Amino acid sequence: MAGRYAGKHVFVAGASSGINLGIAHAFAAEGAKVTVLSRSADKIEAAAAGLHDAGAEAIGIACDVRDYPGLEAAYAEATGKFGPIDVLISGAAGNFLAPAVKLSANAFKTVVDIDLLGTFNVFRASYDHLVRPGASLIAITAGQAVHPSSFQIHACAAKAGVNMVTKCLALEWGPAGIRVNGISPGPIGDTEGMKRLGGDPAREQQIKGRLALRDYGTKADVAEAALWLSSPEAKYVTGAILNVDGGSDLGDASANALG
Ligand code: NAP
Ligand code: COA
Repeated sequence: MAGRYAGKHVFVAGASSGINLGIAHAFAAEGAKVTVLSRSADKIEAAAAGLHDAGAEAIGIACDVRDYPGLEAAYAEATGKFGPIDVLISGAAGNFLAPAVKLSANAFKTVVDIDLLGTFNVFRASYDHLVRPGASLIAITAGQAVHPSSFQIHACAAKAGVNMVTKCLALEWGPAGIRVNGISPGPIGDTEGMKRLGGDPAREQQIKGRLALRDYGTKADVAEAALWLSSPEAKYVTGAILNVDGGSDLGDASANALG
C-alpha cells in the first residue's frame, strides 16, 4: 500500500481494541506493515483480520506485556516477518475506579505491572529489534500521570511512572538515534477507558462542560498525533509528552463561557 509509512514496520502493544487499535489502523492506512499484540488470542486475531480487511499486511500476536520472555519471542516473530521495527507504540493498560481503602495490594500491583512494568518491558525487549537510527517509540500515557485523581491511585501512580520511563529512555537512547515520546489522551469517546471512567450521560455532559474544547476527543485525534510524532517532521522531538486532551490538562474551564 502507498502512503507516508509505506514499507515501514509498526508494532502496537495493547492493540486489540480502542485507541491503540485506532493507531494501528491509521498507520496501516498510510502503508505500514503492522504487528498488533495483546493478551487475548481471539481479540488480537480479530484485530489483525480487521487490518487485513482494510488492505494492510498485518499479524496479531497474543502476549501479556507482563511476560518478558513472551515479548522477546513476539519481537523475534514480528521482525522475522516484517523486518526491524520503525515505530513502536506501548499502550496496554488496565484501569477501574476503586477507593484506596477498597483496593487490595494485588489490585494496585496488577495495574502498575500492566501499565508501568509493561511499558518498560515493551520498550526494553524491543531494543535489539529497532531500526537504528530512526525508530520512534511512543508510550500512551494519561493525564492521571500528573493530576492526582480520586479512586485511581493505581492508574495515577502507574502512568506517572510511564512518563518517567519515557523521558529516561529518551535520554539514554537518543544517541542511538531512537526518539521516545508519550501521548497523553484526554477523554476519548467510544472507548473502554471512558466506559469505565465516564459513567452515565449526565456525568459525560459534566466532564465535557469542564473541558476547554467542550467535547470528547476521537481515536483519530490520538492517531494523528502518533503519525506526526513518528514522522520526519518531528525528527527533533524526543522526551515530550504530547497532550491530545481538549485542554483537560489546563484544568476546569467550566466558568469560561465567552459572551
Ligand atoms: P482498551 O480498548 O481497553 O485498550 C487496552 C488494550 O490493552 C486492549 O487491547 C487490551 O487487550 C490490552 N491489554 C490490557 N492488558 C494487557 C496486558 N497485560 N498485556 C497485553 N495487552 C493488554 O482501552 P482504551 O480506552 O482504548 O485505552 C487505550 C490506552 O489509552 C491506554 O493506555 C489508556 O490508559 C490510554 N488512555 C485512554 C483514555 C480514554 O479516554 N479511553 C484516556 C487517557 C489515556 P486484551 O484484553 O486482549 O489484552
Ligand atoms: N475494583 C477493585 N479491585 C479490582 C477491580 C475493581 N473494579 N477489578 C479487579 N480488581 C482486583 C482483583 O480483585 C484482584 O485483586 P485480588 O487478587 O486482591 O482480589 C486484582 O485486581 C487483579 O485482578 P485480575 O482480574 O486477576 O487482573 P487481570 O490481570 O486479569 O485484569 C484488570 C486486569 C483488573 C486491570 C482488568 O480490568 C483488565 O483486564 N483491564 C483491561 C481493559 C481496561 O482496563 N481498559 C481501560 C484502559 S484505561
